[in-house]
This record gives sequence, structure tokens and C-alpha cells, in this order.
Amino acid sequence: MDLERDYLLQNYARYPLVLARGKGCYLYDTEGRRYLDFISGIGVNALGHAHPRIVKVIREQAGLLIHSSNLYYHQYQGPLAKRLVEMSGLKRAFFANTGTEAVEGALKMAHSHGRSLSPDKFDLIALENGFHGRTMGALSVTGQEKYRRDFEPLVPGVKFVPANDVAALEAAFSDRTCGIILEMIQGEGGIYPLTPEYVARARALADRYNALLIADETQCGVGRPGTYFAYQRATPVVLPDVVVAAKPVACGLPLGFILANDKGAAAIKPGMHGTTFGGGPLACRVSLEFLEILDELMPSIQSVGGYFHASLNELAGKYSVIKEVRGFGLMLGLDLAVPGKQVVLDAMADGLLINCTHDTVLRFLPPYIVTEKQVDQAVKVLGKLVEKLKA
Ligand SMILES: Cc1ncc(COP(=O)(O)O)c(C=O)c1O
Repeated sequence: MDLERDYLLQNYARYPLVLARGKGCYLYDTEGRRYLDFISGIGVNALGHAHPRIVKVIREQAGLLIHSSNLYYHQYQGPLAKRLVEMSGLKRAFFANTGTEAVEGALKMAHSHGRSLSPDKFDLIALENGFHGRTMGALSVTGQEKYRRDFEPLVPGVKFVPANDVAALEAAFSDRTCGIILEMIQGEGGIYPLTPEYVARARALADRYNALLIADETQCGVGRPGTYFAYQRATPVVLPDVVVAAKPVACGLPLGFILANDKGAAAIKPGMHGTTFGGGPLACRVSLEFLEILDELMPSIQSVGGYFHASLNELAGKYSVIKEVRGFGLMLGLDLAVPGKQVVLDAMADGLLINCTHDTVLRFLPPYIVTEKQVDQAVKVLGKLVEKLKA
């Protein structure tokens, strides 16, 4: 901690906890104290910690080939792309390293698509309260002033509209719109799902104005909502033109992706985009293993997620300091009438790791292997802490 204070950029407000190792849904600090992990590295450690099948694959592949660059083929990018295309209903994949980098690629796709139609077609629509990452393009479409203000001017032509307001969405579209980016469940913004009607309208408007509909599933996707992608929860499914994801995709190794239909994919021609690290053999092989395990876990994500949601609703029924419970699957938020920061610290002291977003929303992103018994443990701690808030 002392070294970090002296030598690191002071951009993070870390909790006073030094983690040493993990096993399943538990983490251990350097003193050997155990914590139940209900945040999983902000939605990354989908299989918890030290999952035997992931450890085995990492060990094996690390001894064979970790990185090869995108100058050459390796054995795993093609199969992973095929798998993701089949899961998503889209046509082609690009591999990046992080969520923000995947968003950058998707924004380039939208700009290039617009430019192919008209030099003026570069406006983007994004949602107020949305979050898409920290690089300049992703920041430009992040609908929270606090993240953007120190870095302006950003990419021009971005219009922000309130989520779930169909009239505002209709008013924002024009012939100049090249794309719209949205999170099906806003994550950093406080676990706010979009309504199916709103998403369907966004699809229709994107079609009418020939703009790309981009779903940022970095936080809400890849199994967490109880479906492969959050857009697949609606019936009928409204298919985006472009999907980006990252966090859980390779269980903690950096890997993100862009998936696109023919229209989106056509916007990126040879030489127009690339990355040195993205889609390396180690990350891709781990991801393939993860997706196999994900299929086995999907019923449990749905049932344990439902159980967790019901338990949180029960708490909300008892304590009026809880304003609302929101989310789907294993992406849940508990909106308090008071700031949540102290609850996070108190939970940590009680051996439970959660976090707070948007000031008042306790956010839960447990690993997909979480059990009902572990949910009971977490809810017991939360009940005790919320009771204190009431007093
Ligand atoms: C919806 C969404 N998009 C993009 C990002 C940025 O991802 P990364 O931190 O991997 O760059 C995040 C991160 O929280 C996110 O939640």
C-alpha cells in the first residue's frame, strides 16, 4: 500500500484490502482472512477463482504458446469466433483486449458505415447514465458528465437521450445518425434495464435511418443475465447490428470482442483496424473452455439468480431504506435511500465483497458458480447492515 501511494498514479480509490488468493467464490487476503466474493472483479471472474478446468488449460497453453500476434493464425481464434457467432446470431468477430477497446472498434465501425453513405453521417446516439469505458471514443458516448468533463473536447456528434424515453429517441435520430450505442442493462449507471419496447423502437429507428445498433454487453452479457446476451431476454429477440463484450469472456485474462452482422462487418476493410495482443492463443483457448462450462452453468445462473432476486425482494419488503431491487440473472442491484459506500466497507469487515455504483446502488455480480447457500450467507450480512441503516 505504501509503495502504491508513492509510485502509482493516484486515480483509484482502493478499499484497504490486499488480496492474495482465491478458491471458488471465496477470496483470501494476505492475513488469511476469507471473503465471499459477490463482485467477482467487477463481473470478470465468472467461474470464481482457481477453477480447476481453467487452471489446467492455462497451464497447458502457457507451456505451448501464449502470444503469436495477428500476423499469423493460431488454433483458437477461428473456433472461438464460430462459437460466438453461433451464440449471438451475428456473422463475424473481432478480438480485442478490454471493454473500452471493443467499444472503440464498434464506434469506428459506425463511423465508417456512415462515411460510406455520406460525409455528414457521423452522429452517434448514446444514453444518459450509460457507461462505455475510459478511452476517448468510449468516453464520448458515456452519458455521465463526471467521467467526460476533464477530457473535452471529445469525439463530436454525440447526442445523449434518456433511457426508456421513446419520444426523445425518435427526436434524436436523423439522416446524419450513423449509430446508436446502448447497454441492455446499464451497469455502472446503477443496474437499470432497458424496456423491450424501447429496444424494439431503437431497432426500428436504426433501420429507418440506416444506422448501426450497437449493444454494449461488456457488463450485462456472456451468461450473466441468464442468457448468452442480455438482448436475447426479449421475445421476439431484437438483434443488434453490433455487439461488444469483454469482462467474463476469458475468466480474468484480458479478452474482449466485437460481433457484427454483414452490414457492420462490411464497414471494416483490410487494414482499417487491428491490435497486437487481441485474440491471443492463451486467452482464446481459455475462453473456449469457459463457454463450454457456461452451457453447463446456465440453468444454475437462472435459478440461483432468481433465488437471489427473490431474497433481495424479501429484504426490500422488510426495510423501507431499500427503494428498489433491479436486474436479471446474476446482475442485481439494490437501490438504497442513502449512500451505499459505508455498507460496502461494513460488508467487507463482515467478510462479504460487494460494491456500490451510482452512489446509492449496491451492486452484485457474483461468480456464475455461486450457490443458494452462498446467496443466503450474503443476504444474511446484507440484512444485518440494512437493519443498522434503518436504526
Ligand atoms: C458497459 C461497459 N462498457 C465498457 C466498459 C469498459 O470496459 P473495460 O474496463 O474493460 O475497458 C465497462 C466497464 O465497466 C462497462 O461496464
